[in-house]
Amino acid sequence: MARLIGGIGTSHIPSLGPVIDRKLTQTPEWKPVFDGYLPARAWLAEKRPDIAIVIYNDHGADFFLDKMPTFAVGAAAEYPPGDEGWGVRPVPTARGDVDFSWHAVNSLIDDEFDITICQELTVDHGFIVPMDLLFASDWPVRVLPIAINMIQHPVPTPLRCYKLGHAIRRAVESYPTDETVVVVGTGGMSHQLHGERAGFLSQGFDEMFLDKIESDPEALTKITRNQYMEWAGAEAIELIMWLSMRGALDARVRRVHRYYQMPVSLTGAGLVLLENEN
Ligand code: DHB
Ligand code: FE
Repeated sequence: MARLIGGIGTSHIPSLGPVIDRKLTQTPEWKPVFDGYLPARAWLAEKRPDIAIVIYNDHGADFFLDKMPTFAVGAAAEYPPGDEGWGVRPVPTARGDVDFSWHAVNSLIDDEFDITICQELTVDHGFIVPMDLLFASDWPVRVLPIAINMIQHPVPTPLRCYKLGHAIRRAVESYPTDETVVVVGTGGMSHQLHGERAGFLSQGFDEMFLDKIESDPEALTKITRNQYMEWAGAEAIELIMWLSMRGALDARVRRVHRYYQMPVSLTGAGLVLLENEN
């Protein structure tokens, strides 16, 4: 059976893309952010997982308000980067794994997650920026993108996202190869991009979330969607995608790395890397 070796939760700050493209990652303003990811990069370079399941939300690069799947799963051989309004960034086309994807699609649907199957899927910063930060420029891993609606309310509940993680774990462990898999959940930490509270941040909420995602994720499933948005900003609802990552791991995990800084762009920047204890 395939083996899930660990999980990563991370913010997905779009402005880091142009920083990378313009080779500004080592300037005094930006270096601390990129340094925050180095231990996770080193862990991935050492473990060399075969497959990365990347759970993220599309921000209008592929899905839009006219048609918005709650859960969309990639089943393509490759996933090209989309144009978010400033041209397509010079990043790799992510390599898919069609066999693993169809296995996951079947397993998730058997598990009563009625996902949308995507044989074409363009990815945006929710996917690309974490790939950049975690895998440098060559992305030596096959990916399974899972996009969760975080844009058109009602979005799924935190508990539903957590349970998706349990189903992802079952999909991995029923795949009959000895490949290794890492699961990545991306989503901005405290932030609000619009309206009267544009620029709202909460370091206290972010740090609580980083504590609980490790030690007590079920507590995070009991926070309502409105509370996430009230306490941490409307777009902080994206944090519930980290729960899909966490739900795929064991109840008890070992923390390999944690990083937090705020503000970066309009949000808290954070990362947690967790390993199953066994
Ligand atoms: C920002 C963060 C996000 O997660 C996002 O999707 C868009 C913008 C920001 O900090 O600017
Ligand atoms: Fe986002």
